[in-house]
Amino acid sequence: MNIWHKKSIQELQEEAVSDIGLRKVLNAQDLIMMGIGAIVGAGIFVLTGQAAAKYAGPAIVLSFVFAGGASAFTGLCYAEFASMIPISGSAYTYAYATMGQMFAWFIGWDLLLEYSIGAAAVSIGWSGYFVSLLNQIGIHIPPQFTAAFGTEQIYLSGEHLERLQLPFPPGWYELNNYSAALKTAGISLEDLPRITAVCNLPAFFIVSILTALLVKGIRESAFVNGVIVVLKLAVIVIVIVTGIAFVNTSNWTPFIPPNSGKFGEFGWSGILRGAAVVFFAYVGFDAVSTAAQESRNPSRDMPIGIIGSLIVCTVLYVLMGLVITGIVPYSKLNVADPVAVAMDVIGIHWLAIVVKLGAIAGLTSVILILLLSQPRIVSSIARDRLLPSCFARIHPRFGTPVITTILSGFVVGLIAALAPLDVLGELVSVGTLAAFIVVCAAVLILRHKQPNAPRPFRTPWVPWVPLAGICFCLYLFISLPYDAWLRLVSWLLIGLAIYFFYGAKRAAQ
Ligand code: ALA
Repeated sequence: MNIWHKKSIQELQEEAVSDIGLRKVLNAQDLIMMGIGAIVGAGIFVLTGQAAAKYAGPAIVLSFVFAGGASAFTGLCYAEFASMIPISGSAYTYAYATMGQMFAWFIGWDLLLEYSIGAAAVSIGWSGYFVSLLNQIGIHIPPQFTAAFGTEQIYLSGEHLERLQLPFPPGWYELNNYSAALKTAGISLEDLPRITAVCNLPAFFIVSILTALLVKGIRESAFVNGVIVVLKLAVIVIVIVTGIAFVNTSNWTPFIPPNSGKFGEFGWSGILRGAAVVFFAYVGFDAVSTAAQESRNPSRDMPIGIIGSLIVCTVLYVLMGLVITGIVPYSKLNVADPVAVAMDVIGIHWLAIVVKLGAIAGLTSVILILLLSQPRIVSSIARDRLLPSCFARIHPRFGTPVITTILSGFVVGLIAALAPLDVLGELVSVGTLAAFIVVCAAVLILRHKQPNAPRPFRTPWVPWVPLAGICFCLYLFISLPYDAWLRLVSWLLIGLAIYFFYGAKRAAQ
């Protein structure tokens, strides 16, 4: 057992070109679409409004620039590795080449958290939008089956919602979110119909459908992703172009609302807190690197896929942030569907419905790509025998890792059906930031140890870009709540136990 064992770059490059059964069919455009597919989702459609209302005001735009900067510095580091060692293990493989086996396992285990919890969290968001759209067209799923196990739900009628001054349609809402407001409005809980939820069936449903698609093949999955991405980009562009005409520039003044006296509530500290929250909106660009072994020309196309998707998304996020804070005063944006609310405010109600469809499409592709990435990392780990070898099996006809795809789909589906959303989102961000810091550090280590190894794409201005990536990500990491770090540490400790009891004894040396 040698926990510091490293794989050589040459060994990894041979592994990258060897035929393990995955189909090399993706081109640069597919990879950019995959990146956008994984990036644009709950972050822009849900979190923007909340972060503007609670932390940054119109300066949420600067939060997007800051979080985008952290992602761009890291993206450049990912691009160097993904073009040099195009293996589906992504950060796991880069750590294996630079920091040794135990560290690689640590990061692989961390990535499993990022992708599985990320996919589950976004599926729960998907379910929220889906149920609301179905309600709008008169189809009602029993409320017991639309939320996490044990969630108390109450029915709020039009009259109750009016007393609470909430611009929502009558329906079932989570008691936890409204108990304080109900008390203040003098509405007794005894008077409200109440049920306890059993599971979130729509969330389980979407994970199951996408898992089936992923089993079928990478080409089919990339095609469906491409169609969805075109749809969600069209919705975002329509919102931006239509919304610009309705911007009231007085809503942007003051652009940076003065700090409330508490750290993180407006002012510059608010912008940084906002950046930590909206960082979630960038999670996913790294998923492109897990498709490296299915790319036709990874040395050229990986950097294009990673950097291209990041640039497109940052521009869209900044414009969207400007438009919605220009239409609706930021203090009114603390809602689950801020973009749809902005369209309602300008009186274009059909566009609010289109936004909901766009959000559902957007969230679908995020779940798809996160579900695609996880089994590919597990397969890479299993090929190194740190996990049972059956997880590395590629289906001879479909050319996909069938066992791991079904297993991870099932686990993600269960989490999505039973767990509440709030504990999941921040956990994804801390896990992702930890992996990003490692990838930036790995670039520095490898440049120092093997300065002459062939690098089809070179991160510019080394050491400054990786160092900036580390500093930005570290700052965002420490800005997230302490609870999220604790959950990450617990997850990593479980991983460490599995490593010492299983992987380390069996791994290839
Ligand atoms: N970036 C992805 C989203 O915002 C995870 O949904």
